[in-house]
Amino acid sequence: MKALVKLALAVAVLAPIVAAPGCSAPSEETAPLVVALPRVPQPGEFGVASHTYELVGPLVPKTTTMVTAWDLPQNPLTDITLDTREDGERIKYGFRLFTNTPAETPRYTPSGMTCANCHLNAGQRELALPMVGSAGMFPEYNNRAGRRFSLEDRIVGCFYRSENAVHGPDNGGLQAARAAAVPQPASARNNEPPLPDVNSEEVVALTAYLRYLSEGYTPGEDPPWRKKNRISREDLLPIDALDPTRGEAIYTELCVNCHGPDGQGVQVGDKKAGPLWGSRSWNDGAGMSRYYTLAGFIRYAMPYLDPGVLSDEDAQHVSAFIISKPRPSYQYKNEDYQTEPLPIDAAFYRLDVAEVAGTGSQPH
Ligand code: HEC
Ligand code: HEC
Repeated sequence: MKALVKLALAVAVLAPIVAAPGCSAPSEETAPLVVALPRVPQPGEFGVASHTYELVGPLVPKTTTMVTAWDLPQNPLTDITLDTREDGERIKYGFRLFTNTPAETPRYTPSGMTCANCHLNAGQRELALPMVGSAGMFPEYNNRAGRRFSLEDRIVGCFYRSENAVHGPDNGGLQAARAAAVPQPASARNNEPPLPDVNSEEVVALTAYLRYLSEGYTPGEDPPWRKKNRISREDLLPIDALDPTRGEAIYTELCVNCHGPDGQGVQVGDKKAGPLWGSRSWNDGAGMSRYYTLAGFIRYAMPYLDPGVLSDEDAQHVSAFIISKPRPSYQYKNEDYQTEPLPIDAAFYRLDVAEVAGTGSQPH
């Protein structure tokens, strides 16, 4: 019975796409920068009666459909306790940023990526890079930077890489990255910085939303659902066994309906995935530009209606296909991994360095 309902929903969602291939997004070059506003859930919409499934701890389960794409166990916009809290508005702004990043902060998001494209259900979905309880794990050592990262540092990194905020060699990227390590008083900044830093209002608001998601969790206690989008070490293929051609066949079979032949994303109901490649995608310094990191996301979170159908191997081949496509270059890759060894799957880094080891580095 459950399976039938799911199938019916799947057919309802996919039918218009399959029937009208012409509806796929325009090609990357000509695509106008139109950002669809999310349909924001209304009060009461995520009440006990509004869903028929059990939550997995605090999270929306992975085995749901596009219909649950906006289900949010914790929704700041409908949480009346925030009305009387001093940081209520900041948390709400953080949520809006998280779920509609390019529209809410075009200055820091030249890409078409929204945080929630990768952190599904606004960071509240099982096996889709959930973020509930994460805030208390910071500060945390960051292998790529070789120093401890506050939550704010981490979010600045998300902007630089996953949102491709660094999009030119002369825009002060490196200075801002360094400034991020040392919080500056607002008075020390004459103008708005060209890039986000730990004091940017967007970063502060996103931090507030992520802290809100972690209220009630013990700082330093790793939530059991954290960092689970990973293929176990013994199932990782050697890099030279990754086969983008096989990955392309899988993409055509299982992904193209929603992501489009050009990878730019197709409107599915009120959802649209972010660009998987091309100039509006994440840059080559992002965690998702690492073979195993991307494969770990795909393995457990995609295809959207049937996550888990891909084998470990196939998830890695399809990841290699996506990574074989062009994407923006992060200018400062040579500043990364100065202290810790370069992970073997960092596709765009110096793969010829002598000391290539490990897959344990924290991706973003
Ligand atoms: C039924 C539609 C559907 C199918 C099929 C599907 N996806 Fe997705 N995918 C989505 C949606 C929608 C999102 C964005 C989720 C959100 O914003 O809530 C997404 C997000 C992603 C992301 C995060 C980055 C981004 O650009 O949005 C990746 C990577 C991804 N999908 C890969 C795949 C791969 C690989 C396959 C095939 C194995 C696949 N998807 C199949 C709908 C789909
Ligand atoms: C292209 C996909 C992508 C986008 C877009 C993205 N992230 Fe992430 N994010 C990741 C990946 C991959 C990780 C690493 C997850 C892991 O270690 O298992 C991550 C990790 C994080 C973490 C650390 C979580 C933890 O528990 O340690 C934070 C915080 C975070 N992201 C915030 C954001 C914010 C805020 C945005 C938007 C400004 C954003 N991300 C956009 C892919 C993405």
